[in-house]
Amino acid sequence: MREYDRIAEWYASERAGQAGLPEAVALASSIPYGSRVLDAGCGNGIPIARALLRAGHRVTGLDSSPAMLERLRGNCPQIPAVRGLLQACPFAERTFDAAVAWGVMFHLTPEHQIQAVAGISRVLKTGAPFLFTSGDEDNFEGKEGTMNGVVVKYFSFGVGNYRRILGDQGFALIDVHQDQGGNTYYLAAKTL
Ligand SMILES: C[S@@+](CC[C@H](N)C(=O)[O-])C[C@H]1O[C@@H](n2cnc3c(N)ncnc32)[C@H](O)[C@@H]1O
Repeated sequence: MREYDRIAEWYASERAGQAGLPEAVALASSIPYGSRVLDAGCGNGIPIARALLRAGHRVTGLDSSPAMLERLRGNCPQIPAVRGLLQACPFAERTFDAAVAWGVMFHLTPEHQIQAVAGISRVLKTGAPFLFTSGDEDNFEGKEGTMNGVVVKYFSFGVGNYRRILGDQGFALIDVHQDQGGNTYYLAAKTL
Protein backbone atom coordinates (compact mmCIF):
# COMPACT_ATOMS: atom_id res chain seq x y z
CA MET A 1 0.00 0.00 0.00
CA ARG A 2 1.61 3.28 -1.12
CA GLU A 3 -1.21 5.72 -0.31
CA TYR A 4 0.58 6.68 2.90
CA ASP A 5 3.50 8.01 0.84
CA ARG A 6 1.16 10.78 -0.27
CA ILE A 7 -0.11 11.64 3.19
CA ALA A 8 2.92 11.02 5.42
CA GLU A 9 3.22 14.70 6.38
CA TRP A 10 -0.52 15.11 6.91
CA TYR A 11 -0.70 11.89 8.97
CA ALA A 12 2.04 13.13 11.32
CA SER A 13 -0.09 16.13 12.25
CA GLU A 14 -3.51 14.47 12.09
CA ARG A 15 -3.09 11.09 13.79
CA ALA A 16 -5.72 10.80 16.49
CA GLY A 17 -3.73 11.90 19.55
CA GLN A 18 -2.42 9.14 21.73
CA ALA A 19 -4.79 6.42 20.49
CA GLY A 20 -3.33 3.00 21.15
CA LEU A 21 -0.76 4.30 23.61
CA PRO A 22 -2.38 2.89 26.79
CA GLU A 23 -2.72 -0.53 25.17
CA ALA A 24 0.85 -0.45 23.84
CA VAL A 25 2.20 0.58 27.25
CA ALA A 26 0.21 -2.21 28.92
CA LEU A 27 1.61 -4.74 26.46
CA ALA A 28 5.14 -3.35 26.98
CA SER A 29 4.86 -3.83 30.73
CA SER A 30 3.56 -7.39 30.37
CA ILE A 31 6.77 -8.70 28.77
CA PRO A 32 10.36 -8.84 30.08
CA TYR A 33 12.60 -5.77 29.66
CA GLY A 34 14.60 -5.98 26.45
CA SER A 35 12.05 -8.11 24.59
CA ARG A 36 12.07 -8.12 20.80
CA VAL A 37 8.87 -6.44 19.62
CA LEU A 38 7.57 -6.13 16.06
CA ASP A 39 5.57 -2.99 15.27
CA ALA A 40 3.79 -4.10 12.10
CA GLY A 41 2.49 -1.16 10.07
CA CYS A 42 4.55 1.07 12.33
CA GLY A 43 4.09 4.26 10.30
CA ASN A 44 6.26 7.09 11.63
CA GLY A 45 6.62 5.37 15.02
CA ILE A 46 4.75 8.01 17.02
CA PRO A 47 3.43 7.23 19.55
CA ILE A 48 3.55 3.41 19.58
CA ALA A 49 7.01 2.28 18.46
CA ARG A 50 8.55 5.11 20.50
CA ALA A 51 6.64 4.00 23.62
CA LEU A 52 7.78 0.39 23.17
CA LEU A 53 11.36 1.61 22.79
CA ARG A 54 11.12 3.84 25.87
CA ALA A 55 9.86 0.83 27.82
CA GLY A 56 13.24 -0.76 27.14
CA HIS A 57 12.35 -3.16 24.36
CA ARG A 58 14.19 -3.91 21.13
CA VAL A 59 11.72 -2.73 18.52
CA THR A 60 11.63 -3.45 14.79
CA GLY A 61 9.34 -1.42 12.52
CA LEU A 62 7.72 -2.95 9.44
CA ASP A 63 5.82 -0.83 6.94
CA SER A 64 5.07 -0.76 3.23
CA SER A 65 5.50 3.01 2.84
CA PRO A 66 9.00 4.44 2.25
CA ALA A 67 7.79 7.91 3.28
CA MET A 68 6.46 6.65 6.61
CA LEU A 69 9.65 4.67 7.24
CA GLU A 70 11.74 7.75 6.51
CA ARG A 71 9.86 9.52 9.28
CA LEU A 72 10.32 6.54 11.60
CA ARG A 73 14.09 6.79 11.03
CA GLY A 74 13.94 10.48 11.96
CA ASN A 75 11.75 9.94 15.03
CA CYS A 76 13.39 6.77 16.37
CA PRO A 77 16.82 6.24 14.78
CA GLN A 78 17.47 3.23 17.05
CA ILE A 79 14.62 1.24 15.47
CA PRO A 80 15.41 -0.85 12.37
CA ALA A 81 12.96 0.34 9.69
CA VAL A 82 12.05 -2.57 7.44
CA ARG A 83 10.10 -2.07 4.23
CA GLY A 84 7.72 -4.94 3.56
CA LEU A 85 4.18 -6.22 3.68
CA LEU A 86 2.30 -7.63 6.65
CA GLN A 87 0.90 -10.34 4.42
CA ALA A 88 4.45 -11.50 3.60
CA CYS A 89 6.07 -11.01 7.00
CA PRO A 90 9.80 -10.85 6.15
CA PHE A 91 11.36 -12.26 9.34
CA ALA A 92 12.64 -15.61 10.53
CA GLU A 93 10.49 -18.00 12.57
CA ARG A 94 10.13 -17.22 16.27
CA THR A 95 12.11 -13.96 16.11
CA PHE A 96 9.85 -11.82 18.29
CA ASP A 97 8.51 -11.83 21.85
CA ALA A 98 5.50 -9.64 20.99
CA ALA A 99 3.84 -7.89 18.05
CA VAL A 100 1.66 -4.80 17.70
CA ALA A 101 -0.29 -3.71 14.62
CA TRP A 102 -2.20 -0.48 15.24
CA GLY A 103 -4.36 0.90 12.45
CA VAL A 104 -3.15 -1.35 9.67
CA MET A 105 -5.05 -4.66 9.55
CA PHE A 106 -8.19 -2.96 8.21
CA HIS A 107 -6.27 -1.75 5.15
CA LEU A 108 -5.68 -5.38 4.11
CA THR A 109 -8.17 -7.44 2.14
CA PRO A 110 -9.68 -10.37 4.09
CA GLU A 111 -7.32 -12.81 2.34
CA HIS A 112 -4.30 -10.65 3.16
CA GLN A 113 -5.45 -10.28 6.78
CA ILE A 114 -5.45 -14.06 7.17
CA GLN A 115 -1.97 -14.20 5.61
CA ALA A 116 -0.83 -11.43 7.97
CA VAL A 117 -2.09 -13.29 11.05
CA ALA A 118 -0.35 -16.45 9.80
CA GLY A 119 2.91 -14.57 9.15
CA ILE A 120 2.89 -12.87 12.53
CA SER A 121 2.20 -16.20 14.21
CA ARG A 122 5.20 -17.68 12.39
CA VAL A 123 7.59 -14.96 13.61
CA LEU A 124 6.38 -14.97 17.25
CA LYS A 125 7.65 -17.19 20.03
CA THR A 126 5.31 -19.37 22.08
CA GLY A 127 3.36 -17.29 24.60
CA ALA A 128 4.02 -14.01 22.79
CA PRO A 129 1.22 -11.42 22.85
CA PHE A 130 -0.16 -9.96 19.62
CA LEU A 131 -2.17 -6.73 19.84
CA PHE A 132 -3.93 -5.29 16.81
CA THR A 133 -6.79 -2.99 15.92
CA SER A 134 -9.47 -3.44 13.30
CA GLY A 135 -13.23 -3.19 13.02
CA ASP A 136 -15.69 -5.46 14.78
CA GLU A 137 -18.09 -6.36 11.96
CA ASP A 138 -17.64 -8.42 8.81
CA ASN A 139 -16.87 -6.07 5.93
CA PHE A 140 -15.33 -8.14 3.14
CA GLU A 141 -15.97 -5.82 0.20
CA GLY A 142 -14.23 -2.85 1.78
CA LYS A 143 -15.53 0.64 2.46
CA GLU A 144 -13.88 3.65 0.92
CA GLY A 145 -12.65 6.50 3.02
CA THR A 146 -10.45 9.50 2.35
CA MET A 147 -7.48 10.90 4.21
CA ASN A 148 -6.49 14.38 3.05
CA GLY A 149 -8.11 13.65 -0.32
CA VAL A 150 -6.41 10.27 -0.79
CA VAL A 151 -8.80 7.34 -1.12
CA VAL A 152 -8.15 4.29 1.07
CA LYS A 153 -10.19 1.15 1.66
CA TYR A 154 -11.16 -0.41 4.98
CA PHE A 155 -11.97 -4.09 5.49
CA SER A 156 -12.75 -6.08 8.59
CA PHE A 157 -13.93 -9.31 10.10
CA GLY A 158 -16.33 -9.48 13.02
CA VAL A 159 -15.13 -10.56 16.45
CA GLY A 160 -16.24 -14.18 15.94
CA ASN A 161 -14.31 -14.48 12.70
CA TYR A 162 -11.18 -12.89 14.18
CA ARG A 163 -11.41 -15.39 17.06
CA ARG A 164 -11.60 -18.24 14.54
CA ILE A 165 -8.80 -16.90 12.31
CA LEU A 166 -6.54 -16.34 15.29
CA GLY A 167 -7.33 -19.83 16.59
CA ASP A 168 -6.52 -21.35 13.18
CA GLN A 169 -3.10 -19.69 13.32
CA GLY A 170 -2.18 -20.79 16.83
CA PHE A 171 -3.43 -17.82 18.86
CA ALA A 172 -5.90 -17.60 21.73
CA LEU A 173 -7.97 -14.41 21.77
CA ILE A 174 -7.68 -12.96 25.27
CA ASP A 175 -9.41 -9.59 25.15
CA VAL A 176 -11.48 -7.40 22.83
CA HIS A 177 -12.32 -3.80 23.67
CA GLN A 178 -12.96 -0.45 22.04
CA ASP A 179 -11.42 2.94 22.71
CA GLN A 180 -13.23 6.27 22.55
CA GLY A 181 -12.19 6.71 18.93
CA GLY A 182 -14.03 3.53 17.92
CA ASN A 183 -10.88 1.44 17.38
CA THR A 184 -11.43 -2.19 18.34
CA TYR A 185 -8.43 -3.82 20.04
CA TYR A 186 -7.76 -7.55 19.82
CA LEU A 187 -5.24 -8.97 22.27
CA ALA A 188 -4.17 -12.53 21.52
CA ALA A 189 -1.40 -14.82 22.73
CA LYS A 190 0.44 -17.41 20.67
CA THR A 191 -0.24 -20.82 22.12
CA LEU A 192 1.93 -23.02 19.90
C1 LIG B 1 -3.05 4.26 9.99
S1 LIG B 1 -1.32 4.04 9.72
C2 LIG B 1 -0.83 3.46 11.33
C3 LIG B 1 0.61 3.78 11.61
C4 LIG B 1 1.05 3.49 13.05
N1 LIG B 1 0.84 2.11 13.43
C5 LIG B 1 0.38 4.40 14.06
O1 LIG B 1 0.09 3.92 15.16
O2 LIG B 1 0.21 5.58 13.76
C6 LIG B 1 -1.21 2.57 8.74
C7 LIG B 1 0.20 2.20 8.35
O3 LIG B 1 0.17 0.88 7.79
C8 LIG B 1 0.99 0.85 6.65
N2 LIG B 1 0.51 -0.24 5.79
C9 LIG B 1 -0.64 -0.31 5.09
N3 LIG B 1 -0.78 -1.49 4.48
C10 LIG B 1 0.34 -2.20 4.80
C11 LIG B 1 0.80 -3.51 4.48
N4 LIG B 1 0.07 -4.33 3.70
N5 LIG B 1 1.98 -3.93 4.98
C12 LIG B 1 2.73 -3.11 5.77
N6 LIG B 1 2.34 -1.86 6.11
C13 LIG B 1 1.17 -1.41 5.63
C14 LIG B 1 0.87 2.23 6.04
O4 LIG B 1 1.94 2.55 5.19
C15 LIG B 1 0.81 3.11 7.29
O5 LIG B 1 2.08 3.53 7.71
